[in-house]
Amino acid sequence: MATKNILIVPGDGIGQEVTAVGKKVLDAIAAKFGHEFHYDEALIGHVAIEATGEALPAESLEKMRKSDAVLFGAVGHPKYDNDPSAKVRPEQGLLKMRKELGLYANLRPIKLFDELLSASSIKPEILKGADILFFRELTGDIYFGEKGRKNDGDTAYDVAEYSRYEVERIGRKAFEAARTRKKKLCSVDKANVLETSRLWREVIQKLALEYPDVEVEHQFVDSTAMMLIKNPCRFDVVVTANLFGDILTDEASQIAGSMGMLASASIGDGTGVYEPIHGSAHDITGKGIANPLASILSAALLLDISFGMKDESDLVISAVDQVLKQGFRTVDIADATTKPENILGTAAMGEAVLKFI
Ligand code: IPM
Ligand code: MG
Repeated sequence: MATKNILIVPGDGIGQEVTAVGKKVLDAIAAKFGHEFHYDEALIGHVAIEATGEALPAESLEKMRKSDAVLFGAVGHPKYDNDPSAKVRPEQGLLKMRKELGLYANLRPIKLFDELLSASSIKPEILKGADILFFRELTGDIYFGEKGRKNDGDTAYDVAEYSRYEVERIGRKAFEAARTRKKKLCSVDKANVLETSRLWREVIQKLALEYPDVEVEHQFVDSTAMMLIKNPCRFDVVVTANLFGDILTDEASQIAGSMGMLASASIGDGTGVYEPIHGSAHDITGKGIANPLASILSAALLLDISFGMKDESDLVISAVDQVLKQGFRTVDIADATTKPENILGTAAMGEAVLKFI
């Protein structure tokens, strides 16, 4: 029996639709295990800009700081994507949240549910058994360095910067996780070109001396991108910088069948934030077809990591597994063998998962 305060931050687009389902799953878990979960909501992204002029209003940040965990949706709106001159952008809210809450470690587990082997565009025999845990650094790199224009706006720059301390703390988290898994760590950088990567490699090499039981390899980001598709099973834990991690994890989502399946946990000094890795997907917003499983699996990560509720978390994951075993699919993970009546919308997929909880 535990009492917890959970902040729901749906954000934009399908974030609203999938987070509503994730919350229902948390509700069902609370009822089943006798926990008391209290909820509040906060604005971020485009909806926050429309309401307050800011992508992350102070009130939202305050609520995040005070809550025990945040279930997050997505941010973004097409209106800004083709307007490079927009001064306030939804994504700024997300980046500010990460920085302000000190969420330096972004865990992105890539695990293929066996039933989805055929949903991926990669051959099943290459995928089978793939299970990768990414640690993406989340509060440094080119995302947060100085940026601007010079020469009357004709030249632009974004500075990539890392400190020893920043690399060490994410590195440690990755080594610790490797110890609980297959004890293999792949550190990804571009040390043949970038100075930040050379510091990165130096720090990871030094840390490795403290974890002699973990087998460490260093790979360049370009060849890692290739190997992820060629032989995903060779990876266990992967640790990398902010921008490389952003790109590699979208690529790796294909190993799990669809972006719609992947959950992530952002952790650090304070409140943890749990969110799908997919975006706001305005092309399908309001159609009721978004896959809620990434949000549901994010709720499972929340239960496990922020609340230490392992049994509760495992139940959510096994409920998702059961639903897939029964043949139910959202449209993004359906294939030629899926019976049309088994293709479910967002809410119906949520109900199907709830039945197994
Ligand atoms: C992600 C997203 C964000 C990022 C965007 C929306 C700013 O792609 O969480 O992976 O680049 O970090
Ligand atoms: Mg991304």
